This record gives sequence, structure tokens and C-alpha cells, in this order.
Amino acid sequence: MDDKKLIFSGIQPTGTFTLGNYIGAVRNWGPLQDEYNCIYSVVNMHAITVRQDPAALRKNTLDSYALLMACGIDINKSILFIQSHVKTHAELNWILGCCTQFGELSRMTQFKEKSQRHPDDINAGLFTYPVLMAADILAYNADLVPVGIDQKQHLELARNIAQRFNQRYGDFFTLPEPYIAEVGAKVMSLQDPTKKMSKSDENPNAVISILDDKDTIIRKFKRAVTDSEAEVAYREGKDGINNLMTIYSSVTGKDFAAIESEFAGKGYGDFKLAVGEAVADHLEPVRTEFARLSGDKAYLKECYTAGAEKALRYSQRIVLKAYHKVGFVDLK
Ligand code: TYM
Repeated sequence: MDDKKLIFSGIQPTGTFTLGNYIGAVRNWGPLQDEYNCIYSVVNMHAITVRQDPAALRKNTLDSYALLMACGIDINKSILFIQSHVKTHAELNWILGCCTQFGELSRMTQFKEKSQRHPDDINAGLFTYPVLMAADILAYNADLVPVGIDQKQHLELARNIAQRFNQRYGDFFTLPEPYIAEVGAKVMSLQDPTKKMSKSDENPNAVISILDDKDTIIRKFKRAVTDSEAEVAYREGKDGINNLMTIYSSVTGKDFAAIESEFAGKGYGDFKLAVGEAVADHLEPVRTEFARLSGDKAYLKECYTAGAEKALRYSQRIVLKAYHKVGFVDLK
């Protein structure tokens, strides 16, 4: 390969992507393809750390693959694959697990949150989830990992794991850097703007799905929680408005000063409607392209088969070297 830096990122197929997934991560992946070598994955092995209906998981995985393409991932520029098709992730996971401390995993805030949400299924996979995430990244020796803020802690752990491996066995893994957008790295719930917008929210009005139709999107924005000041301005304490301004800025490219003057003297009703319309219009081509792609199962299969082959070829070289480094006998 050339000397471009390598990007890796993944998304779980646990339902249609939210506007948070889109603004915080996925929409940035397409534009990176020209400057970097990019590898993106639908991480279905991560998804089963929470109970999934098998038929729904299968469908969601294929839909997520099509959705990533609809969001601008070009399979002629990037490697796009389904995680369970590439065995090196599970293989490296084992080695990295032996370089990870129980205490480190216990401190992961996402583990704590998910354990609270699913107290009847605090399984070992949920606990070791960040090790598999480290394997995803290190199996390609990725330089940069574009994610939202909520994944930063996992990424720091991946760096620590890589560092520990390198100390034990000699310099080998690249230490991956987070690549976090300046605006939109944490999109908040429309109903409780102190909380992250999340697929698992029970209140459907809190979350925009990127396949919601225009009316639904506008209705949800109209109901968004704001404050009682009636002033569109970005400042501390105005969580709801700050969130709407962030979203509006991300889909229109306007900065906060421009948004403040656009809505000076206008009420929140006008602002919310404008945000809803801008988001719906921005997502319209994604919806159209998704409808086209998801109907073409044969083409999708061709794409994910080729993606898996490329990802395996790339990662196998690295994982076999790691096998050798730890002292496993070569099979050659
Ligand atoms: P996941 O599937 O929860 O989310 C996918 C991406 O969306 C970002 N994101 C958000 N960004 C801004 N605002 C929000 N409200 C919001 N919600 C989600 C996430 O930060 C993420 O970038 N563990 C990962 C998947 C993963 C991965 C990897 C990522 C597995 N292996 C290797 C990078 C590299 C996860 O659960 O993301």
C-alpha cells in the first residue's frame, strides 16, 4: 500500500442509525476516503453482547451495510465488511485479552451503564467488549479512528493494550489516535438534552432515526425540549438549544454566529421547524439511496463478500505476525 494513513471504524447493527451516529461518526467517514486508506465494518459480533433476536440481527446487519453505502462509503475506495466474516478479529481478541487487566475493564463507563440497563445479563462478552474493539483496530494497525466522544475511553484502552503488547513482545502495534469531530461529537437526546441520543432510548421522540420520513423528523424536532428564554444562542445552561444549534450547524455548514443572527428576534417554533426541515432535506438522498441498495440483495452480497476477502487478506498478515511474536508455533 501507499503511505497514506490508515483509518478504521465500526458501527453496531442494533437498529437504524440515529442522527447521533450519523453526525458524530458515519457522515465523516465518506469524506475521509480521499485522504486516507479507510476500512469500515458493521460490527455484528459486538452487537450480541446484548441479547438480540437472530433474524432481526441478520436483517439489521445487512441493512447497516447498505446504509453505510448510502451514507457515502464507496466500496471502490474503502474496504467495507461485516465483522463476523473476518476471523482475525476473534483471533487477535484472545491475545489482547491476555494483555488487558480486569481492573481496566471494570472502569469502563459503558460497561457500567449497560450492566445497569441489563442486570439480568451481565455476560463476559459485555465485560470484554473493549478488547474486541481493540482487536478490530489493531488487526489493521490503524492510525486514526473516527468516533463520537462516547467511544474515547474505549480507544484510550485500545492504546494501553497496544502499548502493553509492545512492551512485552517488542514494538509492533501502531498506537491508534481518536479522530473526533469538533462539532457534533455528542448529539444529545431531543427529550433530555443532558443525555446522549441513543438507539436504546425508550422514548421515540428523543431519537431521530436517519430513515425517519420528513413529517416524523419535523414532528420530533417540534417537540424537542428547550428552555423558557426564547433566544437562539449557544451558551452554557442552554443544553436543548445548544444541541439543536449543533445539529443545524452540522447539516447546513453554518457556524453558531450565523445561526444566532438568522434567528435573532424569532421564536423557538421557527427555529425548531427550520432544524427539522434542514435535517429531513439533508437525509433525503440517504433514504432514497438506501431504498435502492437494500432491494438489491445480490449486489450487496457481492460487495460484502469482496470486502471480507480484502479485510482478511490485510489483517491476516498482521495477526500472524502477532501470533509469532507471542511465541505460537508457525504453521508453515
Ligand atoms: P456505536 O455502534 O454505538 O456507534 C457508532 C458511532 O456513532 C457514534 N455515536 C455518537 N456520536 C455523537 N453523538 C451521539 N449521540 C452518538 N451515538 C453514537 C459513536 O461514538 C460511534 O463512533 N464500540 C463502538 C463500535 C466499534 C468500533 C470499533 C468503533 C466496535 N469496534 C472499532 C471504532 C473502532 C460502538 O458501539 O459504536
